[in-house]
Amino acid sequence: MSHPISAYDEAYARAAADPEGFWGEAAGAIDWATSWDRVLDDRNPPFYRWFAGAQVNACHNCLDRHVDAGRGEQAALVYDSPVTGTVRRFSYRELRDRAARAAGGLRALGVAKGDRVIIYMPMVPEAIIAMLACARIGAIHSVVFGGFASHELAARIDDARPKVILSASCGIEPARVVPYKPLLDRAIEMARHKPSHCVILQRPQAGASMIEGRDLDWAAWEETAEPAPCVTVDATDPLYVLYTSGTTGQPKGIVRDTGGYLVALAWSMRAVYGVAPGEVFWAASDVGWVVGHSYICYGPLLNGNTTILFEGKPVGTPDAATYWRVIERHGVRAMFTAPTAIRAIKQQDPEGRLAGDFDLGGFATLFLAGERGDPDTVKWAERTLGVPVIDHWWQTETGWPITANYRGLGFFPVKYGSPGKPAPGYDVRVVDEACREVAPGQPGAIVIRLPLPPGCLPTLWGHDQAFRDKYLRDFPGCYKTDDAGFVDEDGYVFVMSRTDDVINVAGHRLSTGALEEVLGGHRDVAECAVFGVADPLKGQVPLGLVVLKAGVSRPQGEIVAELVARVRDEVGPVAAFKRAVVVSRLPKTRSGKILRGTMQKIADGAAWTMPATIDDPAILDEIAEALGKMETT
Ligand code: COA
Ligand code: AMP
Repeated sequence: MSHPISAYDEAYARAAADPEGFWGEAAGAIDWATSWDRVLDDRNPPFYRWFAGAQVNACHNCLDRHVDAGRGEQAALVYDSPVTGTVRRFSYRELRDRAARAAGGLRALGVAKGDRVIIYMPMVPEAIIAMLACARIGAIHSVVFGGFASHELAARIDDARPKVILSASCGIEPARVVPYKPLLDRAIEMARHKPSHCVILQRPQAGASMIEGRDLDWAAWEETAEPAPCVTVDATDPLYVLYTSGTTGQPKGIVRDTGGYLVALAWSMRAVYGVAPGEVFWAASDVGWVVGHSYICYGPLLNGNTTILFEGKPVGTPDAATYWRVIERHGVRAMFTAPTAIRAIKQQDPEGRLAGDFDLGGFATLFLAGERGDPDTVKWAERTLGVPVIDHWWQTETGWPITANYRGLGFFPVKYGSPGKPAPGYDVRVVDEACREVAPGQPGAIVIRLPLPPGCLPTLWGHDQAFRDKYLRDFPGCYKTDDAGFVDEDGYVFVMSRTDDVINVAGHRLSTGALEEVLGGHRDVAECAVFGVADPLKGQVPLGLVVLKAGVSRPQGEIVAELVARVRDEVGPVAAFKRAVVVSRLPKTRSGKILRGTMQKIADGAAWTMPATIDDPAILDEIAEALGKMETT
């Protein structure tokens, strides 16, 4: 007896056999100013372009057309901020009008189509207004996460070369107010490129001092601006650049084109997340991450949903019930968060009792991503919430899920530890080093055969060659995900680890190379290695091993404290870099490669074997002892 073909199987097969038909049909969800010449322009591989020749505007699709179609009074955005005790609703009409004014304000500062605007803001409605305002006039935004400090911000300013920076006086963390303006001023001082203006949202929790001639007060700037209309752009024009960590300290500017992204997001809202227009969707992430771009801002608004902008944490703002409170208060239908957030709640409410105090009757699905959804966490959430919990896998580069389970396409049984099966359009393969596909169940590198579906990065900002080198060179004809894992006999993908120097700390992606550059810059450090060690809450946290220069005799504790402060100051608190150990040498292979994997196993207390290629086996004993002592101090 053959199995019935599910809606998912059908969609997947159709997108594989006839990508232009499949995505051309999905494009019906978008309002185009001009239609495309070709759905998929494959004339210049490995650079593929979706909806070439079409013209479109993202802000029009997110706001204006919904107002025109009678959705003007529906809430587009609900700002729920336990850290300030605020709940505010913005209708589609109000959000459109605010975005139009902010767009006019940008125009008045000389920002035009194709210019870049950096947005360095906390989780306030103005952050979303800023993104949509840029989209409205065809400016390319680049949002920088507020937990990054000046050095990281300066690197992004120099790469994106923004005309204007939009920012705020402060962010609010549970235990402290974080003044953003001094960080911004310092970043601009450090950067070679200087923006002509900064527009600063003054928040009551901390005022910002302004630099005359350069800085403008947001409220006055927006109020006096003339509303600007939507400007059409090419579907292949960038909507934004979002920087993410790679192997080195230099962040990679992921380019997102406009047309393909809108189509993929609109499709995913219904097929993956299973939400209908008018329903409430909540991604508890940050506008500084890709999830914030795709599923706080653009995706839900494209689909006519109400999106929640939550300024708080899963615990401590004010308690471990805050997620369930928000779901009940706003009638959330589907929610998206990182496993680490669920682990934080579980730590404080192990039996999941708090959820019982709320009416979660309208809640249908919890989605997890950002790091592997470990089976314990997924099962705990299932028991606590009584709804399907879907782990799905994606990257900043792809902009939307590579694998998932599909609430709008029939939903297949969950296999714990797997983030599901490939989304239509993604030809996922597991290969060996020679790019030969391995058998089901066998581990290997996970690659995606080109072309990538709409929505995925077409290139790196200003660096076509780096795009080829980093993603397309090692496995010809394929995109290298830099993740490793396997596909089982039923087609479920299992994503087990990164193959590069990226670590995942509380769902945040960090480069160990960037942390090593910061440690290596300390005057007493001769050599260092940073790697991720297992952490019950954050999944992984970074740990540094440092070798001091000959003759340095200062107390080691003092130097370690300086290193911790240095990372916090240069990369930002989000790196969660709290531990470093001084050792006499680093373990290396005879060819000089640092044995990070072995050190990681030792630090995790996992079984390890002496690498045959090690140049000095005794050093591993010293490291094991140093790490052992560190755990007990
Ligand atoms: N601006 C300024 N500082 C920030 C910041 C921001 N936007 N975001 C985080 N930080 C700071 C925090 O205050 C903290 O500083 P500290 O060292 O003084 O305590 C540090 O950066 C680390 O922050 P965080 O990773 O949030 O850890 P935490 O211990 O404060 O909270 C969790 C732990 C699990 C509650 C938290 O990591 C969390 O909510 N994770 C979910 C992540 C997520 O949703 N990711 C999105 C991917 S889908
Ligand atoms: P980011 O670009 O910050 O979204 O991080 C992407 C990386 O996070 C991926 O390459 C994976 O290493 C990891 N990741 C994200 N989601 C998952 C998941 N569901 N399962 C396993 N790893 C994941």
